[in-house]
Order: sequence, then structure tokens, then C-alpha cells
Amino acid sequence: MKKNNQHLLVVEDDKGLQSQLRWAFDDFEVAITGDRVEAINSLRRIPPGVVLLDLGLPPDPGGVTEGLATLSEILALAPETKVIIVTGDNDRANAVKAIALGAYDFHQKPADPELLALLVKRAYHVYELERENQRLHQSDENMPLRGIITASPQMLKVCRTIEKIAPSNITTLLLGASGTGKERCAQALHELSPRAEKSLVAINCAAIPENLLESELFGYEKGAFTGAVKQTPGKIEYAHEGTLFLDEVGDLPMELQAKLLRFLQERVVERIGGRKEIPVDVRILCATHQNLQDLISKGLFREDLYYRISEIVLEIPPLKDREGDVLVLAKSFLNQMAMEYNNPGLKFSIEAIVAMEAYDWPGNVRELESRIKRGIIMAEGQQITEEDLELTSAPAEPMPLNLKEVREEAERRAVIRAMSHYNQSITDAANALGITRPTLYNLLERLGIKS
Ligand SMILES: Nc1ncnc2c1ncn2[C@@H]1O[C@H](COP(=O)(O)OP(=O)(O)OP(=O)(O)O)[C@@H](O)[C@H]1O
Ligand SMILES: [Mg+2]
Repeated sequence: MKKNNQHLLVVEDDKGLQSQLRWAFDDFEVAITGDRVEAINSLRRIPPGVVLLDLGLPPDPGGVTEGLATLSEILALAPETKVIIVTGDNDRANAVKAIALGAYDFHQKPADPELLALLVKRAYHVYELERENQRLHQSDENMPLRGIITASPQMLKVCRTIEKIAPSNITTLLLGASGTGKERCAQALHELSPRAEKSLVAINCAAIPENLLESELFGYEKGAFTGAVKQTPGKIEYAHEGTLFLDEVGDLPMELQAKLLRFLQERVVERIGGRKEIPVDVRILCATHQNLQDLISKGLFREDLYYRISEIVLEIPPLKDREGDVLVLAKSFLNQMAMEYNNPGLKFSIEAIVAMEAYDWPGNVRELESRIKRGIIMAEGQQITEEDLELTSAPAEPMPLNLKEVREEAERRAVIRAMSHYNQSITDAANALGITRPTLYNLLERLGIKS
């Protein structure tokens, strides 16, 4: 079966050999050309990974000048191309010359299609490896920590902090809106820490029903409750010598907050139904998208626990506040995913780029990732448009019911603004609006505005 996008360009003026070669390469899309101009045109249209190049081309089929000139032109345009030279029999000298000019390999006539097929396959493999390598290097450039793609000063600062705190055992709280990459950062922190060889045990406090969360965290002894058929250690114990990541810690029920606090102070766990205190050595990372100060003031989060888990607070900024990151991330996701979907030539249209930069990204990196995935699937040509990303600007407001409605809305806004500007003083607001106090009273009543 033909793999998509494996392109081979054959440059050969001998018609007989042309038709022999046309069918010799099962895995490839083969383009056959007979001279330099045709070859270069074809290469510009569809860049091949490998070129099979006959050195004796018209107008100099007996010599090698035209063949060598074609070789140089190909390599100047697409240096990554692997060119395999096909030379006349007993023409080693010119083959060597071609290699010196940058050809990848050579084959002496009479051409052996089977052997050529093997050479082409091997050359293509090298071509792919080099390209993959280049791709990895490119992404390295914008990957200050493993898995974290960014070029913005805001995130680079976060990355620097992660590097600084990774070697210590300091309990770290990651704050940030949904999809900003809190879990990614926790992972990077763990991988940079001396505990990297041990596991990072994650538990999502919001995803586990309250009645199960305690046994998940602390484990239980056999017979501790109905269904406790065998002794089971909890996640905290599993994380021994590694890192425990408490995701959505803001959703931890009050009762368990007390238990967690006790663990953070004593560093021992007691399984449910057990009497033994088991010492556990873990580094704790917590994350939440909630405002913990708010939860504290509402009595939903313990202040003492907050101080324990927030020895260092890492705030992950929302995507819209990271200068340049939308495009850096978008291109990186496109590179990764376009490969997966077998469409490596895919690009963003200019309008798509403008739309991505203008958009607010309320769902942050996660939203960007999924819009790009969608865009790759929906794209029809070689470009992803803003429609493919569903980033066309919001439809215009619906037509108002009538002029009266428009007028009332405008009045309401003006009155509310004046009242709040003048601290609810009727006299000042009426003056500012150029109406009398009774008129303002009437307006307030008619528009249903409470001062
Ligand atoms: N800087 C980044 N580079 C590459 N991928 C990222 C980056 N930040 C986030 N991602 C990707 O975006 C998605 C969301 O990231 P993550 O799960 O870490 O966010 P989160 O802040 O934990 O979100 P939530 O609050 O919803 O749990 C993941 O698929 C992650 O791989
Ligand atoms: Mg998360």
C-alpha cells in the first residue's frame, strides 16, 4: 500500500527506463521527468524526499554537465532532499564528483529496479529521520522545560521559578484558570526534582465522590467498612519518596481538610480502620482554579491548611496575558497534529492567525489545542481558515424591537452612569444629565432603577 506523502522524483531521459521505473517503487508517489526544467518544476510543486537523478540529461545526454547542474539546483532549492545519482557504467569518477557536490548515494547503470527500490527506501528513511530531528529541535527552542511550550516572558518566569523550587521539598500551590497548564507544570516540577525517579501520584479531589475520597487518600484496613475486603494503601502511601499532586484542592471537603492538615503536620498516615501510624515521605503539590481566599472567607476552606499548602504560590497566567504564546503554541500543536493526521504541509491562513491573536481564549491552552485539532480536521485545502477554527467574529447583535426600546436602553445606561458617578446624588446627576430633579425621579421610576 502507498503511504501518503512519500514522494519520489525520477529525472531520466531514457523512455524505456522511465516506464520501468514508474512501477518499481510500491511505497511511493512517483513523478517522472525527462530534463532539468521539468524536474525543477516538479520539485517546486511537490517537494520529494528522494530524487533519482540520471547524470546524462539533454542537451548533454552523453556528458554529465546537465546532470550535475540539476543536482546543484535541487540541493540549492531543497537541501534536505536525498539525491541518488544514476551514472553510466564505469563512470565512478563522476559519481564521486556528484557525492562531493552533495548527492546522497549513487547507482551504476544498467539500472537494477529492485536494488534501486532498496536504495530509495533507505534514503527516504534517512530523510524522514533528519526531518523529525529538525522538528524536535525546532520545538526545543520554545520548550524551556520538558512539555511546556512557551516563549512569553510571563511563562518563562514561571518556568524559572519551577527550576528554582524543584530541588527543594517546599509545598507548592499552583493557581490558574482552567486549561492554563497547572497539571503540566506540576509534572515538569516533579521531573526536575530529586524525586523524579519515583512516581508522581495525582488525585483529583473534585472528581472523586466525597465518601470515597478519604479511603482513596488514606487507604483502609480489611474489614474497616462493608466492602473493605482487603487491606488497601491510599494514594498518599503510594507516593512515598515521590510527589503527591492534589489537583482541585479547593474542592476538598472540610472534614478531609482537617485530616490532610494533620498529615502535613505529622507526616504520618493512619489507614481507615487501622491503628498503626505509617510514616510517609512525600513532596506535596496542590492546584486549583478556584479563588481560595474567597473560599476561606465563605468558611469553605481552612485558613491554616491554606498556609500549609502555599509555602510557594505559582500563578499560571491565562493564555491571553502571555505575549506571543498563542501563535507559538498554535504552530507547535499544528506541527504535532498535522503529522498525526498525515497532512504535514498544512498552514494557517493570515485571517486565522489574526483571529487567533484577537481571541480571548477563555478555555486557555486546552481550548487552543482542541480548536486546532478541529481546524486540522475541517481544513479543506492546505490552509486552516478562521472558519475551520470557528473563530469568525460573533454575529452582529439582533435588530432591536423598535426605536423606543433603543432609546430606553440608552437612557437607562446614561442614568446609571450619572448616578454612580455622582455617588447617587440626585441633584448632581440631574444637573449632569441636563434635566430637572423631578424628571430624574420620574426616569428612575419608569426605568425601574433603584438608587
Ligand atoms: N505550556 C504548554 N505547552 C504545551 N501544552 C500545554 C501547555 N499548557 C497546557 N498544555 C496542554 O493543555 C491542556 C491543559 O493543560 P492542563 O491539564 O495542565 O491544565 P490545567 O490548568 O490543569 O486545567 P484544569 O484546571 O482544567 O485541570 C493539556 O492537554 C496540556 O497538555
Ligand atoms: Mg488540571
